[in-house]
Amino acid sequence: MERLVAAAISARERAYAPYSNYKVGAALLTKQGKIYTGCNVENASYGASICAERTAVVKAVSEGETEFEAIAIVTDDPSLGSPCGICRQFLAEFGTDIRLIIANLNGAKIERTLKEYLPYAFGPDYLK
Ligand code: THU
Repeated sequence: MERLVAAAISARERAYAPYSNYKVGAALLTKQGKIYTGCNVENASYGASICAERTAVVKAVSEGETEFEAIAIVTDDPSLGSPCGICRQFLAEFGTDIRLIIANLNGAKIERTLKEYLPYAFGPDYLK
């Protein structure tokens, strides 16, 4: 998964975060082995901002990919950070078995499933 973290580090460099200065990069691995990256893109109307994870998911899904193996999320946060609730729910749409690799630029890393981050996820029967 080193290459996934490396892709997220590169994506983070493209983060547009002039308001929070909190740059995030994500790299989403499909079950076929393809990687889609994303970064957070903020807006002067703060609520219009989008997180790195959702950028990556939207890029992948809009290219026809809906089966995901893992997502690496990289910040420069000493405490590693944690995906926001909206991103957890957004990812859960495509399955809660996806692995989350949360890392920072110092090499700290934690790996868990989305199920662990979002237990009892909302999802109507048609998603099961
Ligand atoms: N952010 C992400 O991109 N991903 C997360 O998991 C948490 C937060 C972004 C949103 C905003 O641009 C900045 O980080 C600070 O909240």
